[in-house]
Amino acid sequence: MTTLASDRIWRKRLDQIDTVVEDIRFPNDDDADSNVDQDQEWCEVLVDGERRRIRFHDYSEVFKVPGLYELLFYERLQCCSPSCVANLLTDVARDFDDSVEDLRVLDVGAGNGMVGDELAHLGVDQVFGVDITPSARKATERDRPSIYDGYLVTDLTNLPEAHEEMLRKQDFNCLTTVAALGYGDIPAAAFLKALDLVRVPGWLAFNIKEDFLREEDSSGFSKLIRQLSREELIQVQCYRRYQHRVSMSGEPLYYVAMIAQKLDEVPGELIEFWQQES
Ligand SMILES: C[S@@+](CC[C@H](N)C(=O)[O-])C[C@H]1O[C@@H](n2cnc3c(N)ncnc32)[C@H](O)[C@@H]1O
Repeated sequence: MTTLASDRIWRKRLDQIDTVVEDIRFPNDDDADSNVDQDQEWCEVLVDGERRRIRFHDYSEVFKVPGLYELLFYERLQCCSPSCVANLLTDVARDFDDSVEDLRVLDVGAGNGMVGDELAHLGVDQVFGVDITPSARKATERDRPSIYDGYLVTDLTNLPEAHEEMLRKQDFNCLTTVAALGYGDIPAAAFLKALDLVRVPGWLAFNIKEDFLREEDSSGFSKLIRQLSREELIQVQCYRRYQHRVSMSGEPLYYVAMIAQKLDEVPGELIEFWQQES
């Protein structure tokens, strides 16, 4: 699913990053942890002659090492999600005669700015990042300065009033969230709050592991997305299953990318309901 053009975006960016990573080693078959679930995966990273064990989902540590996120997730694990979701979003928006230049994007779980980079390449020039991890913003400032119009470190499950006011002033008409839902990252209630910060009509572009969309899923995403569709708050325009990346043992991990239109405002009671559910 990765296109050559978008391949070049993270590669080109990596070429500009002064990385200190000398080697990345994954556990081998003899290690007890060689077959753990995604959020428990880890690697050993050689930096300045010193080996350190880092869990993939310990973003705070990953982002502190320049180039580690790109080398680990994009080069070794073949992740393609930022380009996949950004390209689908702009394709669908164009199908609806919406100009990509007019998108004002709230990128939630922005990390070190890979999605902002892809969107900028596709002609979107207003992107605002939100992430809960302070080192994600620092890494964006270090490795992708000037990609975001603003970047706020905040918690959408308990959004301070001043932050909400500031975000609403941006008058977003699009929400993106990539590789950040579930697995102890962004919970369903925070995703709903982010959707509430986008005007009507608006766009919603996200990806999620396909398991989280099964009816028996306990993360809440399957139920929330069905509820949003049923109550006609959103209308899904594109549903695409694809290989997000491989696991550390080389197995494909399948995600679904969805592009939806936001049709109506999110009722306050729904937000409260999901805050209690989480
Ligand atoms: C795998 S990274 C994805 C980064 C980026 N979207 C990308 O595709 O490269 C997941 C990001 O979600 C952020 N995150 C986790 N929980 C969050 C929450 N509750 N609210 C906002 N961001 C969160 C993490 O700090 C991390 O930067």
